[in-house]
Amino acid sequence: MREVDLRSDTLTRPTLEMRQAMASADVGDDVFGEDPTVRMLEEEVAALLGKEAALFVSSGTMGNQLAIRCQTEPGDEVIVGEGAHVAWYESGAGPALSGVQFQTVGRGGLFGARDVEEACKPRAYWCPRTSLVCVENTHNRGGGRVFPQVEIESIARAAKKEQLALHLDGARLWNASVASGTSVLDMAAWFDTVSVCFSKGLGAPVGSALVGSSDLIQRARRLRKMWGGGMRQVGILAACARYALAHHVARLSDDHANAKDFAGALLGITGVKVTLPETNIVHLEFDAPCALEMAEMLAKLGVRLSVTDPNRLRAVTHLGITRDDIGVATGTIRRVLLEGLR
Ligand SMILES: Cc1ncc(COP(=O)(O)O)c(C=O)c1O
Repeated sequence: MREVDLRSDTLTRPTLEMRQAMASADVGDDVFGEDPTVRMLEEEVAALLGKEAALFVSSGTMGNQLAIRCQTEPGDEVIVGEGAHVAWYESGAGPALSGVQFQTVGRGGLFGARDVEEACKPRAYWCPRTSLVCVENTHNRGGGRVFPQVEIESIARAAKKEQLALHLDGARLWNASVASGTSVLDMAAWFDTVSVCFSKGLGAPVGSALVGSSDLIQRARRLRKMWGGGMRQVGILAACARYALAHHVARLSDDHANAKDFAGALLGITGVKVTLPETNIVHLEFDAPCALEMAEMLAKLGVRLSVTDPNRLRAVTHLGITRDDIGVATGTIRRVLLEGLR
């Protein structure tokens, strides 16, 4: 049976060319700052995002959490959108590693300047100090939606007025850029720090980067070592990230087209709501809390989706999914939904 695995864009396997890039990478001890491939990657990413410096880290979680730790003090509050990855899916790292609490604003992952202003705590010593705002772009909760650039600009102005730092969780920033036609440079411009992932849509097996000012990245480098994230001949992984940046950005539009085709084929079926996606994430919202049962049934038929809520399944397109796979997956899902195999 042919299996189509749409659970996440983290499921991609490194391509042959990526493996060749790994094999031929020039390496050194990165804890000594002597890995030339890591250095090249860090310089490239800093330039692409218009910041002074970059740090190669093992995961998006580490990039986000270093950003939080470098821009807050214990007891501070961090403003995030609904379902933000930093608050929901990073194992409680914000409170555990930085001593911060999160305040959620807006709906569906989106929020505006007014939300930020209203969420800021009074500057009284008995209140937590609001010190950081995190934006996620694209944001998962909204189904891979691009955070509108005009909103970001007004959030940035509000943050500046309130003296808050601004972090962008850009795990899928290249998806947002390809879908909207706005460069990652422009998308990053308003932020003090940005984390990006090479191991999602870009298809690298491991790796993320945090960018910001030279001072901040120097601090983050020390903290990365403290948290056990110092890596040695890690140029073999940085080589994959460099390959992905050179070869896998433009093709994200194929993933977006596949996601649209996937959603389009499931529109109008009674009992399930599907919205046409902006990028590579499609949510299937059922009238009843049957997502787990449905996922199990589909898995037996070779189509794997992830359960994100009792009544919601998620499908994510990526480098390992072809147009044919979309046809196979939607054919199976339609059969299950229409023939009532439930
Ligand atoms: C929006 C977002 N931010 C951060 C991360 C964390 O990335 P990692 O799994 O590399 O820690 C993810 C992972 O899926 C994500 O979707």
